Amino acid sequence: MSESTVPPAHPLRLAFIGAGSINSVHKELLLREPDLVRMAAVADPVPDQANKLAGEFCAPVFSDYRQMLDALEGEVDAVLVTTPHFLHAPAAAEVLRRKLPVLLEKPAVCTLDELEDLKELEKSTGAFVQVCHQQRFGQKENWLKGWLKSPDFGEPSLFNIDLYQNIDGYVSDKPEAWILDKNKAGGGIVISVGIHILDLLRYWFDDDYVEVCAYGRFDAPFKASGRGHRSQSALRKTRSGPRRPRRPPRITRKPRMQQVTAIGIGNPWFQLGF
Ligand SMILES: NC(=O)c1ccc[n+]([C@@H]2O[C@H](COP(=O)([O-])OP(=O)(O)OC[C@H]3O[C@@H](n4cnc5c(N)ncnc54)[C@H](O)[C@@H]3O)[C@@H](O)[C@H]2O)c1
Repeated sequence: MSESTVPPAHPLRLAFIGAGSINSVHKELLLREPDLVRMAAVADPVPDQANKLAGEFCAPVFSDYRQMLDALEGEVDAVLVTTPHFLHAPAAAEVLRRKLPVLLEKPAVCTLDELEDLKELEKSTGAFVQVCHQQRFGQKENWLKGWLKSPDFGEPSLFNIDLYQNIDGYVSDKPEAWILDKNKAGGGIVISVGIHILDLLRYWFDDDYVEVCAYGRFDAPFKASGRGHRSQSALRKTRSGPRRPRRPPRITRKPRMQQVTAIGIGNPWFQLGF
């Protein structure tokens, strides 16, 4: 048996900060792999949310995550943060200061200053943050990464991202529609949905952005049109050089869709929808 397949001495004790709808996905792992990971506790100021999530695992519930971390000192191995975006940085910082690793829902933070602070804390505490960019682990995404490295695609010349979000559907079952508040969401659809594809582009091309030209449109107010809101961003330049369009990308206009188009230097292109 190789070292990586030796079962852990005890399941990872994972504490949850935030008990909203995304946890229906996270809790699947706990249900599937109880020998690997178990719920240590849940902190959420909305009692119904916290009780609903914790109840299934008979885990203790807290209304304040600092109180949870104090009460369970030495009994938690890692923390999952799934709060509204503006609380990601303070919650993750609190966890790092206790030298615990954090699995942080996307977007990691709302500002570059918050990012720098977390990086400093990682250095000073030795604990680390992992961001939930799960699309890096998808089968088709990884097949594409191989193809993009092949001469068939060549150098990328243009990326285009097209996004729609069914905002009515997203907020319908939430205690608070924080996503409609720029101060709490940190921005619009680019930061909340587009961040996945922006991350995939970095992953696919082992590159990073230097210059971004973004265009966005809100169907105001968000809820009025019934078609959500839409925005696009075209990445002008990455670390390895300028990216100039050779021809406009084909865009299919469908609501509730995320799509990335990339065009290579010799005009090969792909369009991937989610
Ligand atoms: N990775 C993905 O594909 C994916 C998909 C959907 C959502 N998300 C992300 O997950 C996060 C949560 O989204 P959601 O849809 O579950 O939102 P939600 O509104 O359903 O849940 C947020 C929860 O945080 C709680 N909360 C608010 N303040 C808190 C505090 N101080 N301490 C603890 N909890 C607090 C709220 O009461 C609520 O229960 C966001 O960052 C979102 O972008 C990621």
